[in-house]
Amino acid sequence: MQGRIPENILDDILARVDIVEVISGFLPLKKAGRNFKACCPFHHEKTPSFMVSPDRQIYHCFGCGESGNAFKFLMRYERLDFPEAVEALASRAGVVLPRTENFPGQPSSGITTQLYKINELAASFYSANLNAPAGLKAKEYLLQRGIRQETISALKLGFAPDNWDSLINYLRSKGVSLGILEKAGLAIGKEGGGFYDRFRNRIIFPIFDIKGRVLGFGARVLDNSLPKYLNSPETAVYTKGKNLYGFNLAKDGIRENDFVAIVEGYLDFILPFQEGLKSVTASLGTALTVEQARFLKRYTHNVVMVYDADTAGELATLRSLDIFIEEEMNVRVVSLPAGLDPDLFVRKEGIAAFKEKIASAENLFDYKLKVLKSRYNAKEIEGRAKVSGLMLETIARFKNAILKSEYLKKLAQELNLKEEALLEEIRKVKTEKAYAYPQTKLERKTYHTNATEKLLMSLMLEENGLVSRIRESLDLEDFQDERISRIVSIMFNLVDQGKQVEPQILMNHLGDDISELVSESVFLTQNAPASEAHREKVVSDCIQRMKNERLKLERQRLHEQIKAAQHVGDEELLSRLTEEFHCLIKKKAG
Ligand code: GTP
Ligand code: MN
Repeated sequence: MQGRIPENILDDILARVDIVEVISGFLPLKKAGRNFKACCPFHHEKTPSFMVSPDRQIYHCFGCGESGNAFKFLMRYERLDFPEAVEALASRAGVVLPRTENFPGQPSSGITTQLYKINELAASFYSANLNAPAGLKAKEYLLQRGIRQETISALKLGFAPDNWDSLINYLRSKGVSLGILEKAGLAIGKEGGGFYDRFRNRIIFPIFDIKGRVLGFGARVLDNSLPKYLNSPETAVYTKGKNLYGFNLAKDGIRENDFVAIVEGYLDFILPFQEGLKSVTASLGTALTVEQARFLKRYTHNVVMVYDADTAGELATLRSLDIFIEEEMNVRVVSLPAGLDPDLFVRKEGIAAFKEKIASAENLFDYKLKVLKSRYNAKEIEGRAKVSGLMLETIARFKNAILKSEYLKKLAQELNLKEEALLEEIRKVKTEKAYAYPQTKLERKTYHTNATEKLLMSLMLEENGLVSRIRESLDLEDFQDERISRIVSIMFNLVDQGKQVEPQILMNHLGDDISELVSESVFLTQNAPASEAHREKVVSDCIQRMKNERLKLERQRLHEQIKAAQHVGDEELLSRLTEEFHCLIKKKAG
């Protein structure tokens, strides 16, 4: 754990917050027996397998294995690092953290905290340059594109000077190391050693998160040279497809108007927003991702896509439609006249015309059908079959049966086909996900857990008193399962420190693959209350079985060694091993 936050403070925070309350802030939790459940936010699913235990203060997903305590949930869901998650919960719990100074380049603060600071410094540097003589041309470019000074300030637009090391020199003077500058994606390592600025002679668009922290940058040339835009590479704080440009400024408008217009580019956000469309955001890239959709869903269910009228824009729109349908959001589409994007449209036709376009946006069904009809000849039966097949792929994604059947009816009418035929066809449609939700873990390893040891561990998790008792009867070598042995050793340590062995505290010490084992057994055993006597019998059986298992393994090992000693004719070793073997057999008898 970095930051060295004292363990008793972590325990204190965990004791004061309620994981059910924390998670309910993000997901709708439903009561299920003594637990709560929800659809897992970490993988795509239709029936809930994500469980939260108010008694044990942990969560576990039986679908993907994601598990942990309140800290871990915030880290995963809000993409915080450990110190940030601790900070967030501490303030919620009213626990005062010991002060740690955080300066860029100082390894004591978490890497994400450092990157935010460096990005912030870089943004100020670029912004100062835009307003300096060196940035005159860039400033003129922006003004000439209709962007007003107040907008430049609000979005902290900037300019990266036409030098190889302006930013590097500036940040070095602030005590930032080159290594961390590279991690921030702002400096690039040269082959022969040394570094240079990634962004040069470009207009800078800082990309903010919802809290206004700078995640990364987009950078545009001032002329027609290529590439038109450069973006920050993926860093510990910036992931493509997870952010929405302008969202930090538009979020209130989006909530108030209960709809959002989604555009593609920086300028497509800037002009409409500046002119008075307050519920707009840019996806920055072609197709919208499921993460962006889910994020928006927390603010509104109503989406209007306003992508460019080119083929790429059409394709991106079609893919996004499917995502929104799967997320059960309402989506409509604006088709702009060829050659116009929202930025140009607003400058040419004005914001009122743009708002009108949005108000009269097309239903997703009509839009997709229109696009398909322009591509395939719907006069021929082959063309109609093709179009209907592609339409069915979208219709099949509706979770609501009424919507599904209404659209089927409509499709039959539009294409002059029999509804029964479409019904038969839609059954054949395999609704492959419009997207592959990124796995939190690259691959799920399959472990063969030792059943006896697992059972004993579950019992120890249930009943604290058992830990000391087991500590007297068994030692760590009695546990053959590496993961369980690790868990048990931490339990032993906690008991030594006179602490309770609570799953949520245990989890502060465990990696993902191991933590999963703890939460799983907590959820699986909690509904099987057993009588004291019965439990006692199970415990002693487990202990006995594990001791026998260990003896058996030791015998096997000795047996192998004896064979080897015989093979090489080492008489001395052989007699020592034989002696040991006899002792072992006696031990079992006794
Ligand atoms: P302007 O030409 O300044 O109006 O930009 P635009 O936003 O209209 O550009 P365009 O429609 O070509 O692209 C839409 C979005 O895709 C941009 O805002 C960028 O986020 C991204 N993009 C465009 N060109 C590039 C490029 O060359 N490289 C990268 N990485 N992204 C690009
Ligand atoms: Mn444009």
